[in-house]
Amino acid sequence: MKTFASEIAKIRESFLQDLQEAIRSKDVEEIRIKYLGKKGSLSSLMKLLKDAKEEERPLFGKLVNDLKEEITSHIENSLKRLSLGEQSQKFSREKIDVTLPGRRAFVGNLHPVTMMIEELIGIFSSMGFSVQFGPDLESDFYNFEALNFSKDHPARDMQDSFYVSPNMLLRTQTSNVQVRVMESYPPPIRIVAPGRCFRNENVSARSHVLFHQIEALYIDKGVTFADLMATLEEFLAKFFKKGVKVRFRPSYFPFVEPGMEVDVRCTQCSGQGCRLCKYSGWLEILGAGMVHPNVMRAGGVDPEIFTGFAWGLGIERMALLHYEIPDIRFLTENDMRFLEQFKEEG
Ligand code: DAH
Repeated sequence: MKTFASEIAKIRESFLQDLQEAIRSKDVEEIRIKYLGKKGSLSSLMKLLKDAKEEERPLFGKLVNDLKEEITSHIENSLKRLSLGEQSQKFSREKIDVTLPGRRAFVGNLHPVTMMIEELIGIFSSMGFSVQFGPDLESDFYNFEALNFSKDHPARDMQDSFYVSPNMLLRTQTSNVQVRVMESYPPPIRIVAPGRCFRNENVSARSHVLFHQIEALYIDKGVTFADLMATLEEFLAKFFKKGVKVRFRPSYFPFVEPGMEVDVRCTQCSGQGCRLCKYSGWLEILGAGMVHPNVMRAGGVDPEIFTGFAWGLGIERMALLHYEIPDIRFLTENDMRFLEQFKEEG
């Protein structure tokens, strides 16, 4: 009897001690298992009960039950207390300040060159041109030979490029699309072809090794130089609205005859002369002309039956004029402070 009672007292004492040291509800859970679990202290007491004398058993049983109840109620109380504290700690850790202003989602915008291409395509499709694309990596044939640049033609000097093999290069002009389209479709042909071009050039305020052009090609029976002029004038009027001075100049390109260049009064300096226009007051934006009979033949079109015109327009140049950007290099530097200025409102 004595040993049993003292065993109970010992367990009780050690339980109270353990509980006092418990800091988190997890500790209390462990204590519950230690004392009330299947292999816990109270279970081993019950085993002792079997060996007790018959008449002592009811009393022993009562003592064990009392202890069990006491332990259970202690455990429940401290669990309640600790988990309340833990919850409020968690809440204060995860507190949200609902008065903080929300974070804005980052919304990007189109690159000015992309906007320019879309605007130009919009104008040309309203004038009846459809859109074609050509490869950036091109053969010498489509980029030069078929366009009437023979192997050692001096005009090749103006268009030095990046060759990946003796016969393949990054295209220097979107004019490479001309013969490709002639090979694919019979006239009438009325297309524009936007895309990237590459030249091995010194980078300056107005020229870059990477730039974009949009080519136009119109081939049909009876197309004349007057059609070229009228179409160009219509386009320029649509694009620049009013108030921009334009200059037409005779020029030479091997794949047109006659050929010309179109300049626009520099919007940076209003013609006073600046770095952008090389102090000439004018910025060249496109080359144009009547498609050379040799180019027609290369594309399988009979120049005795058909005539046509073509032009190639520099998209970056248009963007510089249109958005009044002083230096072409801004367009490829990916500086957010620059690019964000083209975000549309709303
Ligand atoms: N491809 C020429 C260049 O990049 C521009 C050009 C001139 C295109 C006359 C044409 C054209 O279609 O007819 O310098």
